[in-house]
Amino acid sequence: MKFNPTDYKKRNITIWNEVASRYHKRWASISQGPFASTSKLVQLLDIKKGDRVFDLACGTGVVTKKIIQKVGGSGFIIGGDTSVKAIKIAKKWNGKKLNLDFVNLDAETFRFSKKFDVITCQYALFFFPNAQKALKNMKKHLKKEGKLGITVHGGAQKVPFFSSIFDAVTEFIPDYVPPGSPDLDRFGTKKALNKEVKKAGFSKINVQDFNFNFNPGKFENYWQNYLKYLAKPLKEKLDALDKKQRKDLKNMVRENVKSFTQNDGTIKFPWEVLILTAKNKD
Ligand SMILES: C[S@@+](CC[C@H](N)C(=O)[O-])C[C@H]1O[C@@H](n2cnc3c(N)ncnc32)[C@H](O)[C@@H]1O
Repeated sequence: MKFNPTDYKKRNITIWNEVASRYHKRWASISQGPFASTSKLVQLLDIKKGDRVFDLACGTGVVTKKIIQKVGGSGFIIGGDTSVKAIKIAKKWNGKKLNLDFVNLDAETFRFSKKFDVITCQYALFFFPNAQKALKNMKKHLKKEGKLGITVHGGAQKVPFFSSIFDAVTEFIPDYVPPGSPDLDRFGTKKALNKEVKKAGFSKINVQDFNFNFNPGKFENYWQNYLKYLAKPLKEKLDALDKKQRKDLKNMVRENVKSFTQNDGTIKFPWEVLILTAKNKD
């Protein structure tokens, strides 16, 4: 089947509308795991009082919330996302403010009449089927000397929290994600991320890695939490496996996490994220 970006986006919207509140509670609102890097992204961008900022794919408003403290009353921040559910949570979590707005929009097609001093995009670039179009759109909306800040996860080997399960699941269910879907790891190296952003015309590109460990508990906690937080379209595929396949799959995941399992049985995953900053010189 040929990859259809419109269907892929629709599927992502359905998934994010379903998982937004779980995602917010489990990760974003408590700065768990990769969200420890949000402060680093904001710090690197050196956001000033009075700045006009756009947080693209703002999700439940985690980056937005940190930035609002920086721009002050004379600044302005807009968060934009395709998921109305995520935006609803972001609005509630951030509270009503005169210098804050959340908008339902798509990364590749959003339009604003006024340009921004800073645009952020945390853990979302890899979801855009046409990331180049989204980056060019971001550039178009930045003032001259305006700053871009992007955070992505490192590649599969750098984030075994994801790959230990994903590698096993796709062995058993090759169409776990729609065939032809963009590889979510495609910007997971400094080189690949730099190249994509450079291609969109940005200058002064700098990519830093941010490394930490994440402990999801013992294997059973890790596995059960995966199932608990899984979105419906994926859960349905797992549920279609027979008993033996499910057992074999679980054993494969268990094998994958062995080298990260400590003497007390808890898992300690390394996790790398990449934080890119760049400028619009035009
Ligand atoms: C992993 S979440 C990150 C959210 C937020 N930036 C954060 O750090 O918590 C990915 C977000 O990207 C959004 N998203 C996916 N595709 C999008 C698109 N084409 N345009 C705008 N947002 C999109 C999803 O709805 C979701 O809220």
